[in-house]
Amino acid sequence: MAPIIYVNDAHRHVGETVTLQGWLYNKRSGGKLHFLQLRDGAETIQCVMFKGDFDDATFTLADRLPIESSLRLTGEIREDKRSPLGVEMAVKQFEVVSPVTQEYPITLKEHGVEFLMDHRHLWIRSRRQHAILLVRHAVVKAIRDFFDERGFVLVDAPILTPNACEGTSTLFATDYFGVPAYLTQSGQLYMEPACQAFGKVYCFGPTFRAEKSKTRRHLTEFWMVEPEVAFMDLDGDMGLMEEFVEFIVQRVLQNRRKELELLERDLAKLECVKRPFPRISYDEAITRIKAAGHEVNWGDDFGGDEETVLANQFDRPVLVHHYPAEIKAFYMKKDPQNPLLALGCDLLAPEGYGEIIGGGQREDDLEQLTASIKKHELPMEAFEWYLDVRRYGSVPHAGFGLGVERTVAWLCGIKHVRETIPFPRLIGRLNP
Ligand code: 4AD
Ligand code: MG
Repeated sequence: MAPIIYVNDAHRHVGETVTLQGWLYNKRSGGKLHFLQLRDGAETIQCVMFKGDFDDATFTLADRLPIESSLRLTGEIREDKRSPLGVEMAVKQFEVVSPVTQEYPITLKEHGVEFLMDHRHLWIRSRRQHAILLVRHAVVKAIRDFFDERGFVLVDAPILTPNACEGTSTLFATDYFGVPAYLTQSGQLYMEPACQAFGKVYCFGPTFRAEKSKTRRHLTEFWMVEPEVAFMDLDGDMGLMEEFVEFIVQRVLQNRRKELELLERDLAKLECVKRPFPRISYDEAITRIKAAGHEVNWGDDFGGDEETVLANQFDRPVLVHHYPAEIKAFYMKKDPQNPLLALGCDLLAPEGYGEIIGGGQREDDLEQLTASIKKHELPMEAFEWYLDVRRYGSVPHAGFGLGVERTVAWLCGIKHVRETIPFPRLIGRLNP
């Protein structure tokens, strides 16, 4: 019995007879030879069948087998200088694990995106989608490593929650044994008490927003990482955002260069993502957007267009701070110098990818926070526990949330966030 190996390890088995298992990715035939591309999930390898080594039936079957049939191939690994892997297999035994009996729906011809999304469970086998999801994995790993290496404690936030965090208009409600519950919009409200227990914390999980808008930046279910640090102010928070984003980008460049190249990403645009990032106030942002000939008024929230106009003025991410308190969430601390402003900060990615981080310093004063909850017409009873954070040893604290999908879209240079998550949830899509 030949040992079963993965394609990734094939170069260590030159001259040996081994077995590979996978799916038929592609094939071509040249009379006495078949060239099968076998995909095992991690890599693809060329496997060559020579007519003289097989009976006629097997040799014909190999030629007719539809792509994505599953196979077990045994043969000798030999060097092949022309292949990117450096090796190929000379097949001696050909076994079909499960034949595809109808045509594989995804072919090399152009398909519409709705068709591809309907076949998302198959589409993820394709080279581009595969590469994007590998970049996603690298981003997730970089996120975890960043915080774990810096002494942050992972504190998981609940998914079912009794109240809103980010405004009541995007809540997904569900029935919780007769009382309403909502899918979490953000773990932040739970990270605030957690940072008083552990100092530096983060949560990382799915979050939900009933976004009624169809844009290339919005999903209804997305993954967010949310650090929160006790005794940190807005300035410290911006420093953490910068260090974090630089770390993710440089890590992905290091570990997923091949995938970024396959996606034809302009790597120079990522290589320059190094600290310090420009920091501008909301006031300055307004001036800059106006100067660029775009109509905007003080007090307006920025949409995708404003963010793009602004971000295009820089070659790396830009931090925008001190937004009008009016357009920001109830929990943001007001600037003691000017209570019309909030000590919040958004990080905008370059090249039109827009806001990938939102965060800032939290209101740590009990009276101010109570007034803000009232002003936003939120149910006070639901926030009593949250107010305890201010009652028992309140300290300045800050944090932020980074959206994984927008970050992956930017790093991969793809237009729409729907391709950056294995099974996207969008306003018109709950399947597959
Ligand atoms: O700016 P947001 O709403 O901030 C919060 O939720 C804070 N409570 C986070 C915190 O301070 N702990 O969302 C943060 C990020 C956005 O910058 C964006 O990257 C992502 O989450 N995001 C979305 N991504 C995809 N689809 C959506 N509908 C998103 N909404 C927000
Ligand atoms: Mg935001």
